[in-house]
Order: sequence, then C-alpha cells, then structure tokens
Amino acid sequence: MTAPMTAEKAPTQSPKSTAVAGLVPTPVASIAEAVALIRSTPLEDLKNPEFLEKDLLLRCGLNNEYLDEFPKELYPWCGHGVRSWQYPNQFSRYLVHLSTLKLESYLEVGCRHGGTFIITVEYLKRFQKLKKAVAVDMMDSPIMRDYLAKHDDEKICDYKIMSSRSKEFVEEVASQSYDLTLIDGDHTYKGVLNDFIAVRKTAKYVAFHDVVSSACPGVVKIWAEIKAFQPADNVADFTAQYDDVTKKGWATSPRMFFVGLFVKTVRALQLAPLPHELEARKQRGFLGIGVVRFN
Ligand SMILES: C[S@@+](CC[C@H](N)C(=O)[O-])C[C@H]1O[C@@H](n2cnc3c(N)ncnc32)[C@H](O)[C@@H]1O
Repeated sequence: MTAPMTAEKAPTQSPKSTAVAGLVPTPVASIAEAVALIRSTPLEDLKNPEFLEKDLLLRCGLNNEYLDEFPKELYPWCGHGVRSWQYPNQFSRYLVHLSTLKLESYLEVGCRHGGTFIITVEYLKRFQKLKKAVAVDMMDSPIMRDYLAKHDDEKICDYKIMSSRSKEFVEEVASQSYDLTLIDGDHTYKGVLNDFIAVRKTAKYVAFHDVVSSACPGVVKIWAEIKAFQPADNVADFTAQYDDVTKKGWATSPRMFFVGLFVKTVRALQLAPLPHELEARKQRGFLGIGVVRFN
C-alpha cells in the first residue's frame, strides 16, 4: 500500500490570485479562454486549493441549470464558461488531491456540459502525461464539441453519447482501463451500482459525486457501503459546504425544494420528505465528492 489518501489537507500557499488582491475574478468569455487559463496558470497556483476555489474554478464557470443548488455568492459565475456542476470548495481540494496521483487515463460517466471533464483533463495534463480521457453522456453538449474540435491537441479524448446502462458501454469499459473514473451520471442506487460494477475491475480510483446529498440517496448508500468495506486510508471525502447552502433551509421553499432538487430526470425522484428528513437536509448540505483507491 502506498501513502494514505488524505482529503482537504493540501498546502495553502499565498495564491497570486485576483481574489487575494480583493478583486472579483471575471468569468471567461469562451471555452478557449478557460483552456488557456488552466494551461497558463503556474503549477504553484494549480496546487493551491484556495486559488482554485476562489479564482480559477470561478473564472472557468459554473452550471446554472438548478441555480438554487449553488450558494448565492457564486451566482455571478453560474451560466458562464465551461459550466462545471461542482462546488469550487470541494472540487478544488479534489483536484489538488488528483495532482498527487499518477493518473494517465480518465473516464467521466455523466459529463453534462463537459465543464468538470474539461477542467479535470486540462488540470491533470499539467501534472503528468495523460494518455486517454473519455466522457460519456446520453445528451450531446456544444461545449464538449467545441473543446474536442479545437483543444484536444494530442487527440487523447473521446466523447461517447450513450447510456452507461447500455451493453455498448459495459463492453467498451471492459475492453479498456481507466486510472480514474468519476461516476456522476444516473444517481439512482441501481444506476450508480451499474457504473461502479462496470469500472470496478480495471479502475485504480473511482470518484463518486453527490456522496453527501439528500437528493441522491442512492449515491449516499453506495458510498457508505464502499466505506464499510474499504480501509479508511483508501477513501477520501471532499464534502466542504457553503454556509449559504446549509442555511438555505430547503424546507421553507416548496419551489426550491421540488424544482431545485427533485424534478430532474437524472436524479432520484422522491416523494415529499417527512419533517425530520427536512431537518436532516438542512444539516447535511449538498453534493460532495468521494474517492476510493483500489490496490
Ligand atoms: C449532474 S450531471 C453531470 C455533471 C458533470 N459531471 C459536471 O460535474 O459538470 C448528470 C449527467 O448524467 C447524464 N446521465 C444520466 N444517466 C446517465 C446514464 N445512464 N448514462 C450516461 N449519462 C447519464 C445526464 O444526461 C446528465 O448530463
């Protein structure tokens, strides 16, 4: 066994960011700008989680489809750039963690617009030679198409429009191996289990999104099961929460509650929760990334 995985303990150096200078980081105006930003940022800054969280990941742009899922302070960056559907305070620590691993190949199941895929690929390429990266989704994305057409210089990326529940996906994954797979597609228990079983044999690391989420009990359940049988130092959680998200009080707004969380074809549909579940929701926050290593 190699060194234990430790989450959220990356060094904090002084970032040379506009955030530190007290300025507001401006979102990128194009995919090309986001790519250029990651390619030109000094490695020292790329290893600094605070810089990633408060500058680079904001500039690269966040998703805005379910704005209520994001804290208000991040709204200015939602709907811009590559539209990553990740909380910067979690994604930053996750990326810094990845920078310490020797990852030569990456698979993302459920890439949506492609934001997280593009950032992860460009970020990993700054630390080692990435030989292969594959994004899978049932829906096509213009952002992904733009990135692949103009910025996949080494032609290492592949983009597959397919369901991970398909025979084609299972056969594809069985014929390949990926050092890291991020499972962020079908968030039901069966869906996550399907994806996990497909990649489990060949993956060195598997990351799950929404390991802390009342909206995705299937992911929470699988993550708890994995943690139950894996040695603790093989597992890392990136589950920092924004105060605004935990304080939001999902129970107080029926609109937020039903539109923001549950009326999503890709997320687990649930019936209205009981009062004690609403209380738990307020305390549990949202999203969260978990990574497990297989030796
Ligand atoms: C939450 S979004 C992914 C967000 C993206 N990983 C990010 O961080 O920006 C979930 C995506 O999974 C896709 N999806 C759902 N079920 C899927 C399946 N069985 N196979 C492939 N994609 C799936 C949806 O179309 C959707 O785009």
